[in-house]
Amino acid sequence: MSKKDLKFNSKTIHGGQQPDAAYGAVMPPIYQTSTYAQSTPGGHQGFEYSRSANPTRTALENSLASIENGTYGLAFASGLAAIDAVIKLLSPGDEVVSTNDLYGGSYRLFKQVFEKFGIKFHFIGMQSIADIEAKINSNTKLIWVETPTNPMMNVIDIKAVSALSKKHNLLLAVDNTFATPYLQRPLDLGADIVMHSATKYLGGHSDVVVGALVVKDKELADKLYFIQNASGAVCGPMDSFLTLRGIKTLHVRMQRHSENGKQVAAYLANHPKIGKVYWPGFENHPNHEIAKAQMDDFGGMISFVPNGSSYDDAIKIVERLQVFTLAESLGGVESLAGHPASMTHASIPKEEREKSGVVDALIRLSVGIEDADDLVADLEQAIG
Ligand SMILES: Cc1ncc(COP(=O)(O)O)c(C=O)c1O
Repeated sequence: MSKKDLKFNSKTIHGGQQPDAAYGAVMPPIYQTSTYAQSTPGGHQGFEYSRSANPTRTALENSLASIENGTYGLAFASGLAAIDAVIKLLSPGDEVVSTNDLYGGSYRLFKQVFEKFGIKFHFIGMQSIADIEAKINSNTKLIWVETPTNPMMNVIDIKAVSALSKKHNLLLAVDNTFATPYLQRPLDLGADIVMHSATKYLGGHSDVVVGALVVKDKELADKLYFIQNASGAVCGPMDSFLTLRGIKTLHVRMQRHSENGKQVAAYLANHPKIGKVYWPGFENHPNHEIAKAQMDDFGGMISFVPNGSSYDDAIKIVERLQVFTLAESLGGVESLAGHPASMTHASIPKEEREKSGVVDALIRLSVGIEDADDLVADLEQAIG
């Protein structure tokens, strides 16, 4: 049986992998080397300098391509380095239509780094295809989608946006960090590029900062490999190894994240002191039907606002949590809580932030894979 035909759970373990050529090591060794001996100039075994390629990184890149149903994977020093490489496909004068509810660091990169180089970004809610189309003109080259969005958990219809991007001959990139390919496979839905902060669920253990891109098209892959090597923000061998190890349990972790997420979301929704709970698994979530169609489950990311939307109440809750750790980031085995307005999304101006619902009382949870009862008990004592 070809490894290409494996189902998802098997792909996380075997996809794109083979025993190491040197000694048959089942896990790819950490090739902690910058360079490789050559018998004559150009006489090497496929690796000449580790910025261009490193065997441990190649093993990770092959795994990434496999789990996203792509053909080419690229690993970077961080999620933002991966996004940076995508935007470097563009030229001054080009325009991008992006969702307005996205990771604050992506917004900062677009606005504060790339706008200076003459690239224009339009940030809009992406629930209506007509609204997205209204922002497209002859300079538009790329649509940037994050779904579910961070932190408001809006769901964007990837298939519909892909049809629009094809109609206008644009590239469609999807940040799949929150969903992971366990829940949603954007390339199958028509996206051209899938991006990950592999720091999160793919790594899964809060021990690396890594980014990833996966594409199907060879010409696009070649352009991105060129940028990866030319700009040099690559992922090191140790981080490649750890991310690859994380991916091997992605399916079991995501299953538990989703089960625990469901339990915690239901608890919060029924709590008399909690006003709003954002989780795409709720039938009354405005994009629930799209979520059901394009996702296999709903994951463990939840945002909520205490009754009365008081900043002080929200801060008290996050300070009192004991099993949830108050920390940046998400997607690890341990449960984390965050205060987007002052942490992950502080780089978005308050006015812009609040337009998409990121109010000062919003709390974001990354529900881990502990016992769900312990997580609920922790929220119970923290909410009081
Ligand atoms: C959805 C999303 N995209 C991109 C990033 C950036 O990734 P990194 O922190 O690995 O650079 C993050 C980080 O939090 C994220 O949550």
